[in-house]
Amino acid sequence: MSRPKNVLLGLTGSINLANIHSYIAAMQHSFGCRIHIMMTPSAQTFIPASTLTHSIDGHVFVDLSEKGGFKMPHVELTHWADLIVILPASANTIAKTAHGFSQDIVSATVLASESPTLFFPSMYIGMWRKKSVQRNVEMLREDGFIVYASDTKLDNNSPFITGGSLPSPNEACRFIADYI
Ligand SMILES: Cc1cc2nc3c(=O)[nH]c(=O)nc-3n(C[C@H](O)[C@H](O)[C@H](O)COP(=O)(O)O)c2cc1C
Repeated sequence: MSRPKNVLLGLTGSINLANIHSYIAAMQHSFGCRIHIMMTPSAQTFIPASTLTHSIDGHVFVDLSEKGGFKMPHVELTHWADLIVILPASANTIAKTAHGFSQDIVSATVLASESPTLFFPSMYIGMWRKKSVQRNVEMLREDGFIVYASDTKLDNNSPFITGGSLPSPNEACRFIADYI
């Protein structure tokens, strides 16, 4: 029997972090996967790491120098991960990755990794439509990253008009299933 897959989930500073528990539960249910989480400093202003530790068996990494059982997490996590999922992916983290910046645990790990890496953009429609954001998304794809093709539709259930909008947890898992 093959071992459970290892999914490294990267959280970035988006309002949609409010729903992250549903996405974690859907991934665990769909794939029976092991999950470690890494968070940008901005993500931690939306949701405290302590609220996530009980949802997963793994560790929640919040900065580059933190060990969590590893000597150098941003390198060792890349060997551990079968798949990296950045959800939600902020415009800022998309830009950081497109341009090779690595100033936090999420961007540094993605830069160091050779695992398949999926981005689920999530941002206000004005941001999503900016040429700079679209250029950065295109650069990610050219560099071999997988970017979920989010609709630019209005979400009536959200107080925010999102352009780079997240799919439902089940739809996100259907997309992830092709790469896990
Ligand atoms: C209330 C609030 C909501 C935000 N929502 C988003 C969002 O949905 N998407 C996004 O790209 N940026 C959003 N931002 C801006 C990001 O948090 C900001 O660009 C941050 O620097 C992202 O950092 P990170 O990519 O390192 O996580 C929001 C900021 C605030 C204060």
